[in-house]
Amino acid sequence: MKIGKFELNKTHLGDTMKLAKELPDNSVDLIVTSPPYADTVSYGNEVKILTPEQYVEWFLTLFEEAKRFLKDSGSFILNINDKSNNGERSTYVFELVYRITKETGLKLFDRYIWFKKSALPMTGDKRLNDRIEYIFHFVKDSKKFKTFTDRIRVPYKEVSLKRFKNKVHGNDIILPNGETKLSQRGSSKPHPKGAKPTTVFRFDTGSALRGLKHPAPFHPQLPEFFIDWLTNEGDVVLDPFMGGGTTAIAAKKLNRNFLGFEINKEYIKMTEERLKQEFPDKNIKEFS
Ligand SMILES: C[S@@+](CC[C@H](N)C(=O)[O-])C[C@H]1O[C@@H](n2cnc3c(N)ncnc32)[C@H](O)[C@@H]1O
Repeated sequence: MKIGKFELNKTHLGDTMKLAKELPDNSVDLIVTSPPYADTVSYGNEVKILTPEQYVEWFLTLFEEAKRFLKDSGSFILNINDKSNNGERSTYVFELVYRITKETGLKLFDRYIWFKKSALPMTGDKRLNDRIEYIFHFVKDSKKFKTFTDRIRVPYKEVSLKRFKNKVHGNDIILPNGETKLSQRGSSKPHPKGAKPTTVFRFDTGSALRGLKHPAPFHPQLPEFFIDWLTNEGDVVLDPFMGGGTTAIAAKKLNRNFLGFEINKEYIKMTEERLKQEFPDKNIKEFS
């Protein structure tokens, strides 16, 4: 199975900024990715480490293409972070998000926080311990993009169930005579399939995956969540910075087709090995 010249369920070797130009229009259902960050760890000689000043211009190319090759029903999930140098946090992520929305036509549907369960303590005595990364959710068409929220609902917390029982919401007004004037917001009954997840995620970090020789892998929880929420079986999920192949594994686990781009061929081999290990019953040729 192919889209344009690209075989699906395969990671293609090359520079994403060039490969993305060859994807056909309206061909991808979901992009989920974590790019190399500015001033980042080394991913091998092929990867030029960009300064925050160079980064935005470089990365905008992919978003300009994504506006073209994403389907109207599609989403682009970007996990990214910034860092502090000499007591100042860099602002390139904010500049990037601003310019994506102003210059490419993609729309920012939402921004999420990934709260990391574990993180290294910060050096220096003024900075607090940093436990978060950003996740930005862009869409091509704010009306037509698809979501399947009932699949990702979570059990209600005790306190929310109590509120439903007492029929009191955060915005309700307690009148001087003790009666409650119900707000128009929110539903008066719990949803039978559970609550919507919040915009703060507690995915594990990739370091929980022992033995994986990639410096910055996702934990599978992250791509799995978004693939489940935003696509259907058989859809095409692109990770333009495939690294060690976590998005590929998440996509296959949920019966989606994946497409990967990666500039370092050692990581492509790693992805193929992981896929063969995870899915020993599948036709091996499908992944290499
Ligand atoms: C943060 S890692 C992605 C990790 C991945 N999410 C995983 O779970 O393993 C970023 C990856 O992008 C690759 N990369 C960097 N620049 C690239 C480029 N211009 N084209 C394609 N891949 C690139 C790096 O080799 C690295 O593996």
